[in-house]
Amino acid sequence: MTINEYKFAGKKAIVRVDFNVPLKEGVITDDTRIRGAVPTLKHILEDGGALIIMSHMGKPKGKVKPELSLGQIKDAVAKALGVAEVQFAPDCAKAQEAAANLKMGEVLLLENLRYYPEEEGKPVGIDKEDPAYEEAKKEMKGKQKEFAKTLASYADCYVMDAFGTAHRKHASTAVIADYFDADNKMLGYLMEKEVQAVDNVLNNIQRPFVAIMGGSKVSSKIGIIENLLGKVDKLILCGGMTYTFAKAHGGEIGGSIVELDKLDVALNVEKKAAENGVELVLGEDSVCCTGYDFSTFSVKEGAKVETFPSNAIPAEFEGLDAGPVSAAKFAAAIKGAKTILWNGPAGCFECDDFCAGSRAVGEAIAEATAEGAFSLIGGGDSVACCTKFGLTDKVSYISTGGGALLEAIEGKVLPGVAAIKG
Ligand code: 3PG
Repeated sequence: MTINEYKFAGKKAIVRVDFNVPLKEGVITDDTRIRGAVPTLKHILEDGGALIIMSHMGKPKGKVKPELSLGQIKDAVAKALGVAEVQFAPDCAKAQEAAANLKMGEVLLLENLRYYPEEEGKPVGIDKEDPAYEEAKKEMKGKQKEFAKTLASYADCYVMDAFGTAHRKHASTAVIADYFDADNKMLGYLMEKEVQAVDNVLNNIQRPFVAIMGGSKVSSKIGIIENLLGKVDKLILCGGMTYTFAKAHGGEIGGSIVELDKLDVALNVEKKAAENGVELVLGEDSVCCTGYDFSTFSVKEGAKVETFPSNAIPAEFEGLDAGPVSAAKFAAAIKGAKTILWNGPAGCFECDDFCAGSRAVGEAIAEATAEGAFSLIGGGDSVACCTKFGLTDKVSYISTGGGALLEAIEGKVLPGVAAIKG
């Protein structure tokens, strides 16, 4: 079933969204995920249905944590949907009456699903090493099914639109689908768009395909890097990963971030790239600092900022951004690309002293997009870069997924998609 085919008139739809939005003193600081779900939610209302919206927020680990209550965002959801009121069910597993009384055109938001350990389906308060763990896990899986069945009982149909959580096999993202027949469950518009965007970079590739992977660790990106080595024409590796590669070749990297136990992994990436005919693009110089405060994103009083070759960084300095030579090299590699994937910044972009590398990458992507490339940007930090540099409208697609996007690009089947599509 697809959301466009389904007739919502007279039906109650339970929709899993990812409203795990950042809050500061109860105020939403980035509503991208809410805006992302609006087309699906509005469509259901406009087609004559009633909406039951469910989501998690944060990681309360099966406990009620008021600071993670979805009640805080109720009014923002009403505003985004253009409705006068969003009703709120303060206990997501005891919303039978509220759901039964819901009239067509009305909206009910359920409290944070993760207040119940059944949502994640992991036993709480028992160590994995404990001999009783396996039994507790089995018991929890049974409870998870009951929880999913309760949620399903509120509605006539189920719509999965939480791409950011689609890599989790939770009660509301996957198990619930078992309680609806194939004609009454479907993906929402956001899921469809995200899945299509991933397909564009994995299967429907227009060449040349250039991927830019940044961020601090090779280890957290190795799955995706390996999958991409079989697909891309050029792979730019930037950010903190630069120093693990430099070190693997015996370079001096000062106090820069490095994974000493991953030097062989870095060399292996280089080997595989060569075998696959992939041009691996690594930075040559770095903007370095003698005292950076990661908590305030600022250079400490009296600290020095200088540029050095990435493999000849003095001991008292650490590399924090791609230098001008690297930035120009990255921009040149992106020029002319027809498919682009960007995940992870080239430096500590939050600080203006160390954002030039990420800016060069973002601007080169925007330019290539203007010339017809498809560009997919994913992961909180690269999305924040686009916002900082005013590039959000100049790239093709900005994903709402962090971990989910990485897993999808690694080639894994997301449980939230499998639950609907089989
Ligand atoms: C996210 O913020 O990446 C999603 O909401 C998923 O959250 P999780 O990593 O806590 O499952």
